Amino acid sequence: MSKIGTPLSSSALKVMLLGGGELGKEVVIALQRLGVETIVVDRYANTPAMQVAHSSHVINMTDAQALRQLIHSIRPQIIVPEIEAIATEVLLEIEEQHISRVVPTARAVNLTMNRGGIRHLVAEELQIATSAYRFATSLPELREACAAIGYPCFIKPVMSSSGKGQSRITSAAEIENAWEYANNSGRVNKCEVIVEAQIDFDFEITLLTVRAQDENGVIQSYFCNPIGHRQVSGDYVESWQPQVMSEQALINAKEIAHKVTENLGGTGLFGVELFVKGDMVWFSEVSPRPHDTGMVTMITQYQNEFELHSRAILGLPVDTSQREAGASHVIYAGKDGRALEYSNLRQALGYPHSDLRLFGKPEGFVKRRMGVALAYADDTHDARRIAAKVAETVKVL
Ligand SMILES: Nc1ncnc2c1ncn2[C@@H]1O[C@H](COP(=O)(O)OP(=O)(O)OP(=O)(O)O)[C@@H](O)[C@H]1O
Ligand SMILES: [Mg+2]
Repeated sequence: MSKIGTPLSSSALKVMLLGGGELGKEVVIALQRLGVETIVVDRYANTPAMQVAHSSHVINMTDAQALRQLIHSIRPQIIVPEIEAIATEVLLEIEEQHISRVVPTARAVNLTMNRGGIRHLVAEELQIATSAYRFATSLPELREACAAIGYPCFIKPVMSSSGKGQSRITSAAEIENAWEYANNSGRVNKCEVIVEAQIDFDFEITLLTVRAQDENGVIQSYFCNPIGHRQVSGDYVESWQPQVMSEQALINAKEIAHKVTENLGGTGLFGVELFVKGDMVWFSEVSPRPHDTGMVTMITQYQNEFELHSRAILGLPVDTSQREAGASHVIYAGKDGRALEYSNLRQALGYPHSDLRLFGKPEGFVKRRMGVALAYADDTHDARRIAAKVAETVKVL
């Protein structure tokens, strides 16, 4: 983009977000600060990002016709997918017809929405190390796949995120339950699952990788310091930056992230999930957009992951350097209900070097992420301790 116009006028640079959760909210804020007009689309009203956008639309984004009509009527210059459950064939068509630019590319969004697509690319085409894997579309096929992969193994619907429908099993006796669970929680009726051998890692990281233009207009890869994180039932509960790792492991991690993101193409920020053991690194998955574990960058970096994403897609320079060691800790609703209230905030923010984001979600569930506590300190150990305290101190009523 060589110019940014005036929002809500004929010169506006319009960016449409498909999906408007807490990550989208921060992307919208970053874009708004640069004078971009933001339009948020999601399947329910008053999502976090809608609350800060210029305008919003509620549609079923897996409905190809509804999505196509909306894009044609708004004609945004740029489309930024924030979630995976989108009729991605429409994005391929919109990009093909030069109606809007899709971030990072329609192909990247299409490939990464399905665990099968990205596995084929990374493990087979690019020959990057991943866990051993098989696919299955029925219970008998799943039994065969598990026998071939061995135990323990992970069973995941190919179309799912945040641990939904995912099981870790240790014997054949658990296969049927895992199949039922995957089928009931998947995004689609006809379920396909991937079976992955368990990688016995020392720790896992997200390597935020930015594809952005350098001073000569050439697209380069820029890396943030590695982010360590802890997952419970496939959902992230805390993250920290930097994650200490061997020099060789970091070189390997950057090489993998570079190869994968270069193949996916376009500009923007990617969250590359990797497993690390000693100097060895395995690819796990990649999000062609800001990553939940990367929320820690709101307190650790000069430019957080949302600002980096926004700058990269607008063709502006990026700075991925870290300012402080820090941590993030998730705040769950802990209950089901609407119009929830958050209290004890004075005490929570009384911890030194702490901060808080409350997402403003209209409805909470026991395991729904409603906010995140942030902290910086001399080292990640202290930062994690403080962030956990802040999260625990916030009371959801
Ligand atoms: N093959 C594996 N070996 C070891 N651990 C695994 C494996 N697959 C998944 N895990 C664990 O489960 C977590 C969630 O898996 P994965 O990232 O594939 O699921 P997801 O639903 O896409 O989660 P999210 O959307 O939160 O990233 C991983 O971060 C890791 O901790
Ligand atoms: Mg993941």
